[in-house]
Amino acid sequence: MCSDQVLVVAIAICFCYGWVIFWTCTCDETPKSAVTAPLKAAAPTEAAGPKPSTYLLATVLTSPGDSTLRTVIRDTWMRLSAKGKDTVTVIFPMGTAGLGEEERDRLTKEQSEHGDLALIDNLYEHYSNLTRKTLATMVYAHNHYDFRFLLKVDSDSFVRLGALLKSLRDVAHPRLYWGFLDGRAKPIRKGKWKESDWILCDRYLPYQLGGGYVLAADLVEYLARSARLLKLYKNEDVAVGTWLAGLDVKYVHDPRFDTEFRSRGCSDQYLITHKKTPAEMLQLYNNVKSTQRLCEKEFRVRASYVYDWSGPPSECCHRANSSNIP
Ligand SMILES: *[C@@H]1O[C@H](CO)[C@@H](O)[C@H](O)[C@H]1NC(C)=O
Ligand SMILES: *[C@@H]1O[C@H](CO)[C@@H](O)[C@H](O)[C@H]1NC(C)=O
Repeated sequence: MCSDQVLVVAIAICFCYGWVIFWTCTCDETPKSAVTAPLKAAAPTEAAGPKPSTYLLATVLTSPGDSTLRTVIRDTWMRLSAKGKDTVTVIFPMGTAGLGEEERDRLTKEQSEHGDLALIDNLYEHYSNLTRKTLATMVYAHNHYDFRFLLKVDSDSFVRLGALLKSLRDVAHPRLYWGFLDGRAKPIRKGKWKESDWILCDRYLPYQLGGGYVLAADLVEYLARSARLLKLYKNEDVAVGTWLAGLDVKYVHDPRFDTEFRSRGCSDQYLITHKKTPAEMLQLYNNVKSTQRLCEKEFRVRASYVYDWSGPPSECCHRANSSNIP
């Protein structure tokens, strides 16, 4: 009995020492600084169990410092659907590589309050990495969620979430690529967004403009799985169009996507409208809530078009001033 007790005590001591050594080692290997501490992601990883399921996964591309903007988005267009998370889930993907301690702490707090940040730890935030970010968003979405469709929008896009969901049911297709399509854009050859490596054609290949577009899950999965092989063009929307160009894609051009580089104005038919300030988002939200209409007054600064599939892409997109295309 006596020797048994000694054994028990010995084991206990060994265990304690082992524990201390384990902690010391772990601490040595992981500097205390929050700079390298991983931030909690919005959803469990693939290995951690079943993925949350949703019909539409909306991804809003904001930067880590945009927390005020995210608050505006949460308080405005994100409320325009009364459907639950199994119908629509909104997440904010962002890169956290190289962030300072203070910024990480802020994000940790925001995450614990809202749980909607998709924190991607091997991604550096920089405008020149926007295509990388879009692709990382596809990979994240594929790894963390079960969804039928993915919406990508810019941080300055206002989405009529309920109306978009309703319209999505009409165009739902297993290889859907839905947005405002351009088939005749000439490659940008100078400035911030120039495509130095564009050699495929003297135009870009048809692509849905970047203010907002929808992709079916199969296309997202294809991009996620091919990610390491894809060429990272500067313009993320051009890149997505190019990556998908060889596939049997269901292109749907929809003038209700006001998703060009400059807004065309305001139409009550818009599903997404781009280049909106936080104050404008609030106004648009109040309009919808109080009148069921988007615009205080409809107006147009630039004509729109219906995509013409009958000719070559360079002839796709004639803007007709006299028409009432939104
Ligand atoms: C873009 O991302 C790559 C890879 O993550 C990184 O090496 C690079 O520094 C980033 N660019 C900028 C300007 O941060
Ligand atoms: C449409 O209107 C704009 C501005 O008012 C004008 O510059 C353009 O030439 C017009 N286009 C056509 C096809 O009439």
